[in-house]
Parts: sequence; C-alpha cells; structure tokens
Amino acid sequence: MSTHGDANALLAEIESIGVDPERGGYTRPVFSEPELELREWFSRHAAARGLTVETDGNGILWAWWDADGASRRDVIVTGSHLDSVPGGGNFDGPLGVASALAAVDLLRDRGIAPVRPLAVAVFPEEEGSRFGIACLGSRLLAGVVAPEKVRALRDEGGRSYAEVSAGVGADPATIGPDLERLSAISAFVELHVEQGRGLADLDEPVALAGAIIAHGRWHVRIEGRGDHAGATRMADRQDPVVVAAETIRSLRVHTLVVDDARGTVGRIKVTPGGTNVIASAVDLWLDVRHRSEEAVRRIVSEVAAATGRAAEAEGCVATVTEQSFSPTVLFDPSLRERMQGVLPASPVLDTGAGHDAGVLAEIIPTGMLFVRNPTGSSHTPAETAEPDDVAAGVTALADVLEHLLTR
Ligand code: GLV
Ligand code: MN
Ligand code: MN
Repeated sequence: MSTHGDANALLAEIESIGVDPERGGYTRPVFSEPELELREWFSRHAAARGLTVETDGNGILWAWWDADGASRRDVIVTGSHLDSVPGGGNFDGPLGVASALAAVDLLRDRGIAPVRPLAVAVFPEEEGSRFGIACLGSRLLAGVVAPEKVRALRDEGGRSYAEVSAGVGADPATIGPDLERLSAISAFVELHVEQGRGLADLDEPVALAGAIIAHGRWHVRIEGRGDHAGATRMADRQDPVVVAAETIRSLRVHTLVVDDARGTVGRIKVTPGGTNVIASAVDLWLDVRHRSEEAVRRIVSEVAAATGRAAEAEGCVATVTEQSFSPTVLFDPSLRERMQGVLPASPVLDTGAGHDAGVLAEIIPTGMLFVRNPTGSSHTPAETAEPDDVAAGVTALADVLEHLLTR
C-alpha cells in the first residue's frame, strides 16, 4: 500500500505496534520497544521523502525539508508525539505525525517552493506516562523543567530517566534548554485528534484551537503502618488506603462545586498490595484542570487539606507534591488569524487536553488543528477518526503550511 499523501495508510502501518492485550489499545511509553520502533518508522518515512532526520539533545526528532538557498532560520515546524498513555488509542499523537508526513507529500505534489524551511518534529514523553511529567521533551527544550530534576525522575520500575535513556543509546547529559533552536522557529502548528465531542456536535471535520485550559499533576503519598488484615483490631489500624479514599472523595466533591472543573485520580499504587495485608503506603496522582489557574490551585489545596485531616485521624502521614503545572494557554492570535484566513469554515475550539504546542506557546507562535473524533473519547481504545476526516485534516494542514512556507 502506498503511503504517499495518505495519513490513513501511514497509521495502518503502525496499528500492530505496541498493542496491549491486557489493557486493550496501545501502550507505547517513551524509550520502550514500541516507542523506539515508532521512531524508526518515522525516521524511515522521513528519509524516504528526502527529509534530513536528526535527534537533538532532548531526544526530539527533527526531519528537515530545507528551502533552496535558505538557512535554518524562520523555520515552520509541524508534528506531534508517538508515545501513548497505558491502553490508549492509535490517534493521540501519531495522527499529527502521520498527517505531517502526508502533508509534505501534498505540498510537493502541488509543486510549491518553500521560501523557508519546514521541520517535522516528534516530541518524546508527551503523555508523561513513564516519568510523570507530561510534554517532557518540549519542556526540556523550552527550559521550563530542570535537566537535573528530569535525570532523577523514576519510572514505575524504579529506573531513572538517566538510566533508561542511556540504556537506549541517548545521552542524558545533553538534555536541557535549546533556546537557539527555538529562536530559529517562527511558527509551530500541531495537528491532533480532537479529544472531546466539539467537532462531532458541530458536524465539522476540522477545527482550530483557541485555548488549552490550565492543568497539573500532584503526587499524593500516604504512609501508614502495614499489618495483618485478620489479626489487627480496627481501632489499632493506621491504614493509608482509608486516607486515600478520603482524598479521592474530596477531589470529586471540590471539583463538582467549580463549574466545568475536571479532577481525576487515574493511578493508585498500594504498597505492598495484598488482599490480606493492611497497606503500609499508598501513592496516588491527582490530575486537575480548569480554565482558571486559581480554581485549579484552590481545588488542590482543599483536597490537600482534606487529606491532611484524614491522615491525622488515621495516624498516617500524607504529603502532596506538585509534579507539573501548565497555566492556561491562549494560542497566538495572529497565527490563528492567518490559519483562519486559510480555513475560514473551521470553528475554533478550546481543549481540556495538554499538548507540546501548549508548552511551546509560551515562547513561539503556535497553533493547533483538531480532527473530528466521532466517539469524543481519548486515552482509550475508543478514540477514533474517520478516514475522510483524517484526509481532510491532512489537506487543512497542507493548506496552512503552504501559506506559512510561501508568504
Ligand atoms: C495529555 O494528553 C493530557 O492532556 O494529559
Ligand atoms: Mn497528544
Ligand atoms: Mn494524550
């Protein structure tokens, strides 16, 4: 099957990579075998298109289409990520990467002559599903997370970022801000599957992004005293699971009273984790989002206070640590105006999902395109996009890139 100009065909090529038979869908954490295979796949396709591929010090792949006689300044960048959440879909990330490759084909077929370079970028650990911090590659690039902190981050198996990245041939010493590279970029446009029902409700295939709502992650650690489930009287327990239950309940309660806030606990680790064992510790992670940063902070502080009270009552000790926080992002209005000029029929939608484009928006003009997802679901195998909409997304991306590369 030819993949020329066809993001559906490109996505079909990777549909067996990282399949997770236990969870369903795909599990493609950064630096895992499937994620490395996907990087190889991308590099192969980029090279086949005559793009020059390099990996920078942060593990970001850049595939260059250099413009005749132009230096690598005033660069237009598109792309997305290839890592996934545990049990995710095949579109969150890969759709933007496949569409970028297909858009390059379309632009070449149109015979356009770029006056400035285009780079297709693939960002590692966008989901933060291995080391806890979302958009890790773009955060490192932008200098908004300290390299020493990143090198010390540990995955579920206790292995550090430094260890894991070195194990796959990357050099952890080279991670960190690259403001020279960023200052050469004049616009970044990320295409992404929509992660809600906005386009399905509007019956439109493609939208432009308006804003990303503020979001953050907090690690809650509750320490108690492990003991025997049968031999320990209820009055003698210091059970961290009971405290965790209160954390989760209070997150729901405090989120519900703020209009359109989102609060999630999607990951809990009970140590040691035996049915007949009172736990000695619980780790859980809060994901809280709202358009107002202040509302997010208020919810988290209420939950932290409720957790502290429950911990005291149970004789446990609880700590709440911020892992990452992303303020509300309003995408660059003048870039969006230009994109709207190219795609006048496309609506503008805000999103509750985080993206590398949101991190880079703090530093360079960025914009996003969303492609309709009929189920409205994401971070689940139910995430999808119709082939015609995928093709419409590629055309929209090519139209926007043509405008940015030639004017
Ligand atoms: C990434 O998709 C996120 O919003 O967490
Ligand atoms: Mn994504
Ligand atoms: Mn995602």
